[in-house]
Amino acid sequence: PVVPDLVGRHVVISAGGTREPLDPVRYLGNRSSGKQGYALTRTAVARGARVTLIEANTGLPDPSGADVVRVGTAVQLREAVLKAASDADVVVMAAAVADFRPAEYAEGKIKKKDGQEPAPIVLVRNPDILAEVSAERATPDQIVVGFAAETDNVLANGREKLLRKGCDLLVVNEVGERKTFGSEENEAVVLAADGGETPVPYGPKEGLADTVWDLVSARFSPQA
Ligand code: C5P
Repeated sequence: PVVPDLVGRHVVISAGGTREPLDPVRYLGNRSSGKQGYALTRTAVARGARVTLIEANTGLPDPSGADVVRVGTAVQLREAVLKAASDADVVVMAAAVADFRPAEYAEGKIKKKDGQEPAPIVLVRNPDILAEVSAERATPDQIVVGFAAETDNVLANGREKLLRKGCDLLVVNEVGERKTFGSEENEAVVLAADGGETPVPYGPKEGLADTVWDLVSARFSPQA
């Protein structure tokens, strides 16, 4: 039986991966499938939340029961997240946000020219949405959750990232062959700012999503 512990809560979830355009036909992107963010959405809806799903380039159909906002770039994702976060009880940043974007966007398709080396691509930093949402919470008891994919020193790097971003919970995945990107399964450790450490064994992304909601729900102060 599903516990309706998110009834009366507004939950904002970002999913997918941003694409940073170079010209009208090309972009810098990443391998995020969006499946973890969709699993978070389905489970939050099942537990009674009002969900705003902000999706970037997943190609997945709208999940039922959620309000869906579709964005492309990190800058667009930031706008949508900050807007939705203004009355949110929880913000979960499951999207893979490009750290950098091309400094310039070419209005016309970039052409190759015979005998010429390609021009270098200059990048500029994108805003860190998770750090910004954590620093500027709409209410003092808003709960902010981040994700981190790490290849080595997973726990130590995760702890450091949790502190740097200022979020309450950080889901740390070890990036591996069959895990994480595009797969239906995941394995992770959820680190909490209060020191908690919850391992989530290898399994469906719904299982990890439910663990996140359990931890979030345990941190809510009683509803007025
Ligand atoms: O720093 P890193 O990209 O590893 O952090 C991952 C977490 O930070 C994810 O929750 C991601 O959604 C978020 N993030 C963000 N804005 C960025 C980069 C990452 O919100 N520019």
